[in-house]
Amino acid sequence: MRCSSTAASARRSSRSRECPDSAIRSVSDCIPVSAGLQSSAQSPVKYGTAAGAARFGSKDRQPKTASGGASMETRTDEIAAGVYRISTFIAEAGPEGLSFNQFLIEADQPLLFHTGPRRLFPLVSQAISRIVALDRLRWITFGHVESDECGAMNNFLAAAPRAEVAHGALGCMVSLDDLADRQPRRLGDGEIIDLGGRRVRHIDTPHIPHNWEARVLFEETTGTLFCGDLFTHTGDGPALTDDDIVGPALAAESLFGATALTPNTGATIRRLATLRPQTLALMHGSSTKMRCSESLVRLAEAYDSKLREALT
Ligand SMILES: [Fe+2]
Ligand SMILES: [Fe+2]
Repeated sequence: MRCSSTAASARRSSRSRECPDSAIRSVSDCIPVSAGLQSSAQSPVKYGTAAGAARFGSKDRQPKTASGGASMETRTDEIAAGVYRISTFIAEAGPEGLSFNQFLIEADQPLLFHTGPRRLFPLVSQAISRIVALDRLRWITFGHVESDECGAMNNFLAAAPRAEVAHGALGCMVSLDDLADRQPRRLGDGEIIDLGGRRVRHIDTPHIPHNWEARVLFEETTGTLFCGDLFTHTGDGPALTDDDIVGPALAAESLFGATALTPNTGATIRRLATLRPQTLALMHGSSTKMRCSESLVRLAEAYDSKLREALT
């Protein structure tokens, strides 16, 4: 179902009814074309201290209003050493708006996790180019095949001649061998790519949070788990939060119903907790360095509980 790109914010409360599947999946239809053509990408903000976290506040934001479109901004924050979060808040997605986050790992072979939808390519690519030259990008990765995860995949392949898409073998076989303009690199479960200064481990998570080809990525040097849509929550929060992320994620789940409740959902998420991540990097919402494994276990328990309720 298509959302109106000209809908005023006063209609936000009814947006989830207009897009009953998920406001997330419909967001690229909600972004005015003109919005993606006006960049407000900013210089990266350093992370690591409370003072640094405080800088994620409004004084570092410079919203720009696209003509005839929504107020949009793209913020860049370093959430772990050499790991940058590039975030665009879309006020029209869901009743409280939703952030769309891409992550860049700075290394000898720079890696991007999530491309953003095609219509955000001008904003996202400009933000990246402030950190590394676009044609230096070596790896294009994402959690699963949806427009917000990989809509701009071929735009980045065109901008970065040496870049390869890397994904699980299943995702390549089912979709990416056909969709990607260059042959993707097939990864086995647990396979590691050495980026030179950083090492990323590919982990298959079929159907978790959704889509058969779903996967996550774990950067071993910084202990950063790129969670994709896990812990999705609404609103325009800071790049890093010390607050609980499980409650907001369950509230968003009630709103969107985006997660596949399967016999493996809880077990798969618990397996991620055993990685002992130091940072959870979220595609939608604030990332965190607090209680990472504990939050994964609590999320797994909540989905176990939902599944039991559904079966009784
Ligand atoms: Fe998704
Ligand atoms: Fe997403």
